[in-house]
Amino acid sequence: MNSVDEVLKALTDERYVAERSLGVAIYLALQLGKPLFLEGEAGVGKTEVAKVLASILDAPLIRLQCYEGLDVGHAVYEWDYPRQMLAIRLIEATGEGAKAEVDDIMSREYLIARPLLQAVEATAGGERPVLLIDELDRADEEFEAYLLEMLSEFQITIPEIGTISADRPPVVIVTSNRTREIHDALKRRCIYHWIDYPDFEREVEILMRKVPDLPPELASDLAGAMEKLRSMDLFKPPGVAETLDWAAALAVLGTTRLSPEAADDTLGVILKYQEDITRLRSEGLEQLVASVG
Ligand SMILES: Nc1ncnc2c1ncn2[C@@H]1O[C@H](COP(=O)(O)OP(=O)(O)OP(=O)(O)O)[C@@H](O)[C@H]1O
Ligand SMILES: [Mg+2]
Repeated sequence: MNSVDEVLKALTDERYVAERSLGVAIYLALQLGKPLFLEGEAGVGKTEVAKVLASILDAPLIRLQCYEGLDVGHAVYEWDYPRQMLAIRLIEATGEGAKAEVDDIMSREYLIARPLLQAVEATAGGERPVLLIDELDRADEEFEAYLLEMLSEFQITIPEIGTISADRPPVVIVTSNRTREIHDALKRRCIYHWIDYPDFEREVEILMRKVPDLPPELASDLAGAMEKLRSMDLFKPPGVAETLDWAAALAVLGTTRLSPEAADDTLGVILKYQEDITRLRSEGLEQLVASVG
């Protein structure tokens, strides 16, 4: 892809409706070989960027889902102990445990590659896989420090084996829901982009592209209602994922326009906290629907 416009067109072809600034960030990340750091509320399309990019580039998507306690053994590599034990038993059974054979069990063959090593190895021969490091804010800070090194050098050091380097930088997408701040040192190595909730027009377009046979009036009702809901200071405002779920739910119910009754019936599709649902019911669902209808 040789321009921002080409990136935007490729995204649209994959049914991802991006604002121009995201297209620029992606283009720069690809051209400069830098990781793309995407932050934003839940369900605004952060993870989807990596999936869509893999599909556009026709590259494998290697995904590392972060969580509290994520360690090197799950993120980078792990020794295959059962196989090593078996090999040792075999060496013992067949006579003198030759030193060469013992050395053998500390070789690449007995290593299980986890996502980060997989990504480095997948660059062999100049390939460029997409590495998604999803929800980094859930991982511990020690892991972040490890990642910092990996993202600047794109190499992994395994004491028993040596250093394995990427032939070229993989396409790296890091996402965060900002439940905590990611260190500046890591951010500095990345191109940063905040994905905001889409505005009304973009949300209508997302709906029309993603939900086949959706009546345009209903798309506009839903986008309008979402805009209102997100301005209400709810405990958990709905994301684009919820808008799409809402459209699917209303389609199943055979609804073609958003009425207060239809909204009431389906509130559990878009709001996941009882406090938010109660508040909306008491503060006027009619008002919400009337203002967009
Ligand atoms: N701009 C967009 N164009 C098309 N579809 C979108 C867009 N943004 C979000 N979606 C859709 O919304 C859904 C949620 O997106 P995604 O899972 O990427 O969100 P997320 O930001 O990673 O959320 P979370 O923080 O909960 O992981 C997906 O089905 C995705 O296809
Ligand atoms: Mg996600």
